[in-house]
Amino acid sequence: MCGIVGIIGNKNAGYKILQGLKDLEYRGYDSAGIATISKDELQIKKSVGKIAALEDAFLNAPLKGSIGIGHTRWATHGVPSINNAHPHVDCTGKIAVVHNGIIENFVSIRKLLIKEGHRFISESDTEVLAHLIEKFYNGNIERAVKEALMLVKGTYAIAVVCAQEPDKIIIARQQSPLVIGIIKKGSYIVASDVTPISKLTDRVIYISDNEMAILSSSGHHIVKISDLSRDVVKKIERIDWELEDSEKGRYKHFMLKEINEQPKIVKDIIFSHVIKKKGSVKFGGLESIWKNDEKDISGSTGIDYLLNASRIIIFGCGTSWHSGLIGEYAIENLAGLPVEVEYASEARYRNLCITKNDMVFAISQSGETADTLMAIKEAKRKGAVTFGLVNVVGSTIAREVSGGIYLHAGPEIGVASTKAFTGQVIILALMAFLLGRHKGAISLDKGKRIIKALEKIPEQMQNIINNDGPVKRLANRLAKYSNFLYLGRTYNFPVALEGALKLKEISYIHAEGYPAAEMKHGPIALIDKNMPVVVVATDTEDEIYEKIISNIREIKSRKGIVVAVASEGNKSIKDIVDETIYIPRTEDFLMPVLSVIPLQLLAYHIAVKKGCNVDKPRNLAKSVTVE
Ligand code: F6R
Repeated sequence: MCGIVGIIGNKNAGYKILQGLKDLEYRGYDSAGIATISKDELQIKKSVGKIAALEDAFLNAPLKGSIGIGHTRWATHGVPSINNAHPHVDCTGKIAVVHNGIIENFVSIRKLLIKEGHRFISESDTEVLAHLIEKFYNGNIERAVKEALMLVKGTYAIAVVCAQEPDKIIIARQQSPLVIGIIKKGSYIVASDVTPISKLTDRVIYISDNEMAILSSSGHHIVKISDLSRDVVKKIERIDWELEDSEKGRYKHFMLKEINEQPKIVKDIIFSHVIKKKGSVKFGGLESIWKNDEKDISGSTGIDYLLNASRIIIFGCGTSWHSGLIGEYAIENLAGLPVEVEYASEARYRNLCITKNDMVFAISQSGETADTLMAIKEAKRKGAVTFGLVNVVGSTIAREVSGGIYLHAGPEIGVASTKAFTGQVIILALMAFLLGRHKGAISLDKGKRIIKALEKIPEQMQNIINNDGPVKRLANRLAKYSNFLYLGRTYNFPVALEGALKLKEISYIHAEGYPAAEMKHGPIALIDKNMPVVVVATDTEDEIYEKIISNIREIKSRKGIVVAVASEGNKSIKDIVDETIYIPRTEDFLMPVLSVIPLQLLAYHIAVKKGCNVDKPRNLAKSVTVE
């Protein structure tokens, strides 16, 4: 979604902002713009479509100045156009604003400002901010920004520059992320996430809701928006991402790079959490719990909360919801604890009967998904303790929850989530294992056996990735079809959902995932010779396996094309399906981290064959910060 970059204290500010905007391209956008201040005047360039157009305009006539702000816009109010693109300026052309989020009461503010004589040129909600700041400006830009923000309802991360005070960037935040990168005293980069920052510095300050920062050549100053006299002391934190983490390296696409990173990420997760001798695992992030910014001194750990909760409720969206479903099956099977998985967007508006005895576990790669964040807030309001499973360190969700676990998977740039999914699944599997050990449902011996299986997983993942050839050939064969069905049972049902989501996101082919047994309740009507059906049939339990085989026969008798993802050694399945992709076997609850890989690769190769923009599919945003 929209992205913000601001620079102060660098004589090539415009160029650096352009580079920063390129680093934010992965979030999804449809127009972009930059404003710098040179000789006490604003200089502005905007473009519709790819940033390359802005770059061309920039190369022809660079924007001068050592201070500026830039934006990538993902249209919400008004079509992608030059007028609707940010930065927006006031009537005097002296104040420029970039904004992520939505100003909910912009219509009434706009009417009022028009009555007062302000001239609007866009349909964007953001433009009201520029004119409101103009209205309140009397020589002090931070005060004018404060007055303006007091009148708006909604969500925002903003950056503002004013040609009359050419040595200041003002930033402010309400429910939309903003980070300050400290290059050196008086030299800063601000951005809506750390990706562009990590190229210039690893020292960051995360801005919280209701905070404003004034950045100038004499330093930075953080205050409460509601009371500019209240200084806020913030910790300077370190980003743990390396520069190459956010670059493609030798790979053609970020998605392929991220698929390839999975064995290492899963290995790091496994080896940093297992305790071999105890046949168990540990999670430092669940050892201390925070409630209302205070450390819980009852001595209860996160694991105690999980074990004693009347229900564990998992929130997530999209891929993170899929990993939540796998977590549900694993926790129920290994620990016998009650779990429910909810779409965060629905949970928020349903009267979900959450009580203080429930434990909410929110899953989010970005840690910024507005639906998930709001569901967490609602659960907290109802008294539940909330945990997070998040990739982006310091993100809003990570700071909102009482405790939790980081994936440490590095930046995920490809819009279609891959490495975050397998990272989430392996952590949820480890958590289920740990809860099972605590409940006594898993003995020491069994625990040690599971650890042996876990230790083999990274190599097994690597073997699947190395054996990509057959999947690529299959992709070439299947790319011409317009509809796909994905089926699986138990742990492989969420894998089927995830496989279908990957395909539709990046290749624009219509695909649906179903529990295999549901096929006869409707989707079977779709089956004919033009319908490839990917059946994830790695189950070994006789009863389930036999049922999956019956489903496959039902598809074949209707001339559907069946692609089976099967366990190595299962020779007989080859005779009844059209194509088989073999993968190694492991414990059932760990299978999804293996069985999802061929589905990720299948979607990837089909999208490449179709010439689609794999890393930045149309209409999608990496970090969905609006509801
Ligand atoms: C799918 C995908 C999305 C995200 C969803 C939640 O490939 O990336 O479905 O999973 O938008 O995002 P996070 O996990 O950042 O909360």
